[in-house]
Amino acid sequence: MIIDIVTIFPEFFDAFINTSIMKRAQAQGLVKINCHQLRDYSVRKNNYIDDTPYGGGSGMLMQFPPFYKVINQLRTPDTKVILLSPQGQMFNQEKAINFSKIKHLILLCGHYEGIDARVLEFVDEEISIGNYVLTGGEIPAMILSDAIVRLVPGVIDELSRETDSLQNGWLKYPQYTKPDSYEGRQVPEILKSGHHKNIEDWRQKESIKATYEKRPDLIKDLKLSKKEETILAEIKAEKNK
Ligand SMILES: C[S@@+](CC[C@H](N)C(=O)[O-])C[C@H]1O[C@@H](n2cnc3c(N)ncnc32)[C@H](O)[C@@H]1O
Repeated sequence: MIIDIVTIFPEFFDAFINTSIMKRAQAQGLVKINCHQLRDYSVRKNNYIDDTPYGGGSGMLMQFPPFYKVINQLRTPDTKVILLSPQGQMFNQEKAINFSKIKHLILLCGHYEGIDARVLEFVDEEISIGNYVLTGGEIPAMILSDAIVRLVPGVIDELSRETDSLQNGWLKYPQYTKPDSYEGRQVPEILKSGHHKNIEDWRQKESIKATYEKRPDLIKDLKLSKKEETILAEIKAEKNK
């Protein structure tokens, strides 16, 4: 997979691209993340890429021509062009899973007042990372890249990825590591029992309980199996005791 990020602040991404899992995924040849300086596509002197908005109003707007040029240079028939924008559809795990199957992504980072609206004709999806306004699309681009790259096969352990929170709709069960006892706090006995079936059942129930207690809003979007329905009913009954 190739991720091309278009920004006026490529240096923002130096540590992100060259650290930890992003660095390893690239070293293994599983992904390639490139940053492109939008100013290199400027059509004005001194590499200017912004100007005042038509109709008046405050702030500066990024111009259309540099985006037109960079998209046309990078785009292939396999490309999805994503504009980071507070006006976009909300990013979530389902979108991360879908994007991770695409061979080539171009992420466009706005800044200042945003971008001349003519760019939208060349954008496949507008994506927001939350209902708030940031100064630029660089942090959203990192968030998307991070969530997407870890889903590319081979980047992280498959079992860990598949049991992570939200991957199958539920939150992950609580986890513990050594020491098994500290300051009177114990690790649940069942996790030390070596009984795989019991551990699996416990984890499933704890996963459903965590979702019910912390994010009940997620449950209404899930299609529950008979077993999950039974466990959820059990958890609700235990709560109401
Ligand atoms: C200050 S914002 C521009 C906001 C724009 N004037 C508006 O009202 O919709 C500058 C840039 O930051 C990025 N940005 C800000 N908030 C974002 C969010 N919640 N999700 C994704 N990108 C965001 C976008 O790329 C945007 O073009």
